[in-house]
Amino acid sequence: MDTESTLVLLKALANEKRLQILQWLLSPVENFPPQNDGDLIEDGVCISYITDKVSLTQPTVTMHMKILGDAGLVTSKPIKNWVFYKPDRDAVDSALADLNQRLRTEIGAASSDAEIPPPAFTTSRLIIRPPETADIPSWQKNFVDYEVIRHLHAHIPWPYPENGVETHLNEAILPNQGKDKWVWVLCHKDQPEEVIGSIEIRRTDAGVGENDNRGFWLAQKFWGQGLMSEALVPVMNYAFTKLGFKSMVLSNATRNRRSSRVKKRHGARFVATAPARFVDPTYTEKEIWEITREEWEAYEQSL
Ligand SMILES: CC(C)(COP(=O)(O)OP(=O)(O)OC[C@H]1O[C@@H](n2cnc3c(N)ncnc32)[C@H](O)[C@@H]1OP(=O)(O)O)[C@@H](O)C(=O)NCCC(=O)NCCS
Repeated sequence: MDTESTLVLLKALANEKRLQILQWLLSPVENFPPQNDGDLIEDGVCISYITDKVSLTQPTVTMHMKILGDAGLVTSKPIKNWVFYKPDRDAVDSALADLNQRLRTEIGAASSDAEIPPPAFTTSRLIIRPPETADIPSWQKNFVDYEVIRHLHAHIPWPYPENGVETHLNEAILPNQGKDKWVWVLCHKDQPEEVIGSIEIRRTDAGVGENDNRGFWLAQKFWGQGLMSEALVPVMNYAFTKLGFKSMVLSNATRNRRSSRVKKRHGARFVATAPARFVDPTYTEKEIWEITREEWEAYEQSL
């Protein structure tokens, strides 16, 4: 959306009556009586019903509807002698998404130009810190395991290239670290030099082919000890308090039970399933989850 279209949209919404009418039109069955002509959902709402409900004259309502129409928020069609209006739901959704993107209200107050490099954390068993090039050998050794990688998004190559971690670190992580993604490696305090896992937090528009806000993996020999759940505590706190996330969208392959258990454990809500591709071609669907800042805080207080 260009700036001019955004301004037209904002002007269209910057009026109490128009905002009210658009809200009513988005739930027509709840807000208007059944019509003799025209289906409330399929055809829209007759101008006479809108006029009655909003208590304005018909020419004034027509003027308001033209402004909403010019902004692309409603469409109109004539039936008999009347004009029927219905909201263009896709246009409303994409306008709001565009506005959100511009203002970054949903996923962080920080603009992508402001770099906020990730800090290091320690927990009872782990050191969680930003990756360095010295991590490449142990990262490659522990990550390159089909049992780990098969659960990840299909954009990750398999067989995994010999220099895959090096390329990923130098080309995808380090240049973007603190801009639109924040990546930490996990090291066990018993072997602080060895990378045994990683967590990535990203804005949904980070251009990585994934539309969720978080990814993670842990070397197989460390599964079942609660290490990922432990590492997520400071990272999620950081995302919600310092990066300004209000809510995070998470996902996993539908049959990746370990990953979904991690989400359930920390209070994420299951939202829906959707088709998706993973490295393991037998996975064809993902589960989508969401967690708000308040839901995360409730979990954290329960610890
Ligand atoms: C997803 C993944 C990180 C989960 O690992 P995990 O070990 O199951 O998760 P945690 O570290 O949080 O450990 C939780 C498990 O440890 C157990 N556990 C033991 N001690 C624990 C403790 N002190 N605190 C919490 N859990 C503990 C829990 O009971 C739980 O086991 P359960 O799920 O069988 O009940 C790991 O399976 C993995 O890396 N998979 C491959 C990559 C992947 O799928 N990434 C996610 C893509 S969406």
